[in-house]
Amino acid sequence: MSVVDEVKARLDIFDVISETVSLRKSGQSYTGFCPFHTNTKTPSFVLFPHTQTWRCFGACADGGDIFSFVMKRDGTDFKETLAYLAERAGVKLETRNHSTPAQDEQRIKLLTLNSAAAVYFHHQLINSPVGATTRRYLMERSLTSETIVTFQLGYAPNQGKQLIQHFTQRGYTIEELQQVGLIGLPDDGSAPYDRFRHRLMIPIHNRKGEVIGFGARALADKQHPKYLNSPQTVFFDKSATLYGLHLARKQISQQNQAVIVEGYMDVIQAHQQGAKNVVAQMGTALTESQLKLLSAGSPKIVLALDSDAAGNAATVRGLSMARQVLPKKRRPTMTARGIDFESHLTQEIYIAALPTGQDPDDVLRQGLEAWQKLLDQAIPSLDFYEQLILKNTDFQSPQGKSSVVKSLIPIYRDVGDEIEKSARVQRLARTIGIDERLLMAELTGNSPAETQRTKPSRQPPPALKTEQGPTHTASISTVSGPMGLEEYCLSLILTYPSTLAMANDALEQQGLPPLTADDFNRGEHQEIFRSMQLWTASQIPKLEILTDMVGQPLAQQIVRLTNQWKHHVKVSVPELQQDLQVTVLKIRIENVNAQITQLKFLQQNSTPAMQRKYMVMVGEYQQLRKKLDSAKG
Ligand code: GTP
Ligand code: MN
Repeated sequence: MSVVDEVKARLDIFDVISETVSLRKSGQSYTGFCPFHTNTKTPSFVLFPHTQTWRCFGACADGGDIFSFVMKRDGTDFKETLAYLAERAGVKLETRNHSTPAQDEQRIKLLTLNSAAAVYFHHQLINSPVGATTRRYLMERSLTSETIVTFQLGYAPNQGKQLIQHFTQRGYTIEELQQVGLIGLPDDGSAPYDRFRHRLMIPIHNRKGEVIGFGARALADKQHPKYLNSPQTVFFDKSATLYGLHLARKQISQQNQAVIVEGYMDVIQAHQQGAKNVVAQMGTALTESQLKLLSAGSPKIVLALDSDAAGNAATVRGLSMARQVLPKKRRPTMTARGIDFESHLTQEIYIAALPTGQDPDDVLRQGLEAWQKLLDQAIPSLDFYEQLILKNTDFQSPQGKSSVVKSLIPIYRDVGDEIEKSARVQRLARTIGIDERLLMAELTGNSPAETQRTKPSRQPPPALKTEQGPTHTASISTVSGPMGLEEYCLSLILTYPSTLAMANDALEQQGLPPLTADDFNRGEHQEIFRSMQLWTASQIPKLEILTDMVGQPLAQQIVRLTNQWKHHVKVSVPELQQDLQVTVLKIRIENVNAQITQLKFLQQNSTPAMQRKYMVMVGEYQQLRKKLDSAKG
């Protein structure tokens, strides 16, 4: 049994979920209000003890096992969730890290130094006479003492040697102080000095809440720079840090929305006002690593841009490109027409433009409503870019039309989703009044004037060696043996990575969405699949790359899954692709069947109004099943 299974076997999903959701027994299952969205009228959240799974039949339509629940609730990634649940279950995890005990000890010592420094600065602010000016400053900015404590704000005295004295007396060396960036060590050999002097100290934490560095705000007018940050250290990498994430992650996961602002003080004010899903980029352009910190659970990302940035085409263009690194997520959604497979949720960057001359701090101080209103008006970055270009160009004139096309077409080319791409082209053609076919030709590089341009094409990843050579037929499904469908599906992709893109194309041709992590019920399978999506797109999908990505214990599980295929006969690529496609359809049919059963069960134990609602949903699922059945053939 894998550790993941062992953890699941030892814990009862009921115990974990009932900590957050108040559950009522309803037949063999339990119902309650879904904790992941506001719902006060109908309890749409259901827990099924016999399968140890949960599902929301309401707005979020999510579901899964104990792992997916905790990941969503706490905003943790798979590894963190496993560590947490394993500890609860009393299962010991093999920690395979490559550092020596001495290195571990040093790392802990340095982290401890950082957090001791935060405590030291905080103490100077709260208790010492020299902190008085800064205390007043914070009061003038209407920050409460509770906020000062929550964010562990501090004061670095002006004296220049005080911190060095304090920490060398407590057993830290000059070298260690330098390693964490708390002191400066002049090249000319003169004495070390405190890096931060007469500044408001803002500790910066990583996701886990460990202090990794400081932002330090000037307190006097003539003091430059306005913000002095810790230098890059082993712990502190500005480009991979979002300020406030350790405090915001839970709310981000629960509201399924993250708001990114510019400044430290904006985050602090936001949290004080109760907007606790706010984080700040660290005074640089938004990076991929920062976006990836937010990708667990795929929240909607809203960027609050000041009016200068929001009016700057280059900035907005950059953000529209950045959205491409975010994972795509599709799921069937309930609409008036039934279950709609076409509609898809893409994790998007939304832009909320701040009023001229105001920053989030200013808006937030007017109250939470003003802030919420601003966020509600946020629009997807690419739409924002389109509007900006159209606003700044006279697209009635021929030159204007050409200039709009030149600005927008290169961006459209990078839109991964074909449906979105062509919808955008159609809309633009209508708006600026030119022939859609002309625009399409421009997009694909087929315009007569530009035959030279290489045509961007979506090629499936290169095939692995194992897929070449002579092949002969075999009924592949028979090797699945004791494997479940989900495992079989993963093992197929693992062994023949290029089949994923092909099977997805085939599914799309049938009007069905490509395979996503949401198709899997088990948290560990979702996690493996998410990593596999990146992996299959890489140039050479080597197994070690994937096992490195997922880490232990999932790496072991992956190896086990590939071993199922080791001694198996070769089959042709089209057959493999077909097999994968059918497997995906079977998984979906199984899921739909389970949901129909669950709904019918719920129906027996509910109010007449709910019964009608469930009946409608059953009907919709049955329609979906028909569609899947006929696709399976
Ligand atoms: P207040 O002006 O006190 O309201 O602070 P703020 O956090 O709102 O800062 P501001 O809007 O001026 O700048 C936004 C962010 O850019 C800051 O939080 C810093 O992360 C960064 N930043 C601003 N000025 C500097 C600087 O001089 N040096 C560095 N390294 N970063 C800066
Ligand atoms: Mn500010």
